[in-house]
Amino acid sequence: MVVLYDDQIIEREQARIDPEDRAYQFGDGVYEVIRVYYGQPFYMKEHLARLQRSATEIRMNLPYPLEQLEQRLLQLLQRSGLQEGNLYIQISRGTAPRNHAFPSNARPLTLAYTQPSPRPVKELSEGVSAITTEDIRWLRCDIKSLNLLGAVLAKQKAVDHGSKEAILVRDGIITEGSSTNIFIVKDGVLWTHPANHLILHGITRQITLQIADELQIPVKKQPFSKEELFTADECFLTSTTMEICPIIQIDGKPVKSGTPGPITRQLQQAFEKQIALLQSRLSKSSK
Ligand SMILES: Cc1ncc(COP(=O)(O)O)c(C=O)c1O
Repeated sequence: MVVLYDDQIIEREQARIDPEDRAYQFGDGVYEVIRVYYGQPFYMKEHLARLQRSATEIRMNLPYPLEQLEQRLLQLLQRSGLQEGNLYIQISRGTAPRNHAFPSNARPLTLAYTQPSPRPVKELSEGVSAITTEDIRWLRCDIKSLNLLGAVLAKQKAVDHGSKEAILVRDGIITEGSSTNIFIVKDGVLWTHPANHLILHGITRQITLQIADELQIPVKKQPFSKEELFTADECFLTSTTMEICPIIQIDGKPVKSGTPGPITRQLQQAFEKQIALLQSRLSKSSK
């Protein structure tokens, strides 16, 4: 397996992480996960723009220009031969003697690799169950930081309950999932939490909102309560790896009839069309 290490593509076994790497000690760094379909990255520019924003928000300079990173990632993708899966990228603030404050001269370390992973077709067609749990994370959830313990604990609680996702509740309001954004449909209107400091501004959330706009589905980017979640007509989650996935049961109770709803299905179909476009572009370019 090959990895991108700083700005070189090397064998995984050659990559060395120092014990005093700040990502390892403090979770001091940022990351992205980009989906790959038909060997091509999906919404790569949007993910890289968010990576840049996350780095800026934690006051970390990227070690080299974003355009260079993009080129290296495309080379990595080609070298790995990945057709369907995920491209993971993280940038640590670098290695320095352990001390909370920023080091004065550490070089940020980029690490990226690919992971084969099929589309979650069963979940996408049948829907998944979720639990609700308190949102115990920090107040800058808009930064895609390596510090993921709040999300890890929430996701494990979901797994312990035999569920796919933990829906996070802060002061009675649904913020997002442990690694996904959450939407509900109520009387034909799509609701999702506004993109502020309490949620990650999901790329798939943004794609879903664009699709809803094109399909003329009314949208409210407004907070909704746990009570509204439990009386919703439909519920679904969005993420790079889970796409637009119906949630059919929450805390053991069915969402409406307990089957994926019609607006969720409409959005899923439009999303699939975007994936299919990648394939048709590929077959055109090879002609
Ligand atoms: C907390 C959180 N919210 C939402 C998302 C979904 O974001 P995206 O659609 O960009 O993958 C993620 C993805 O990892 C996440 O960790």
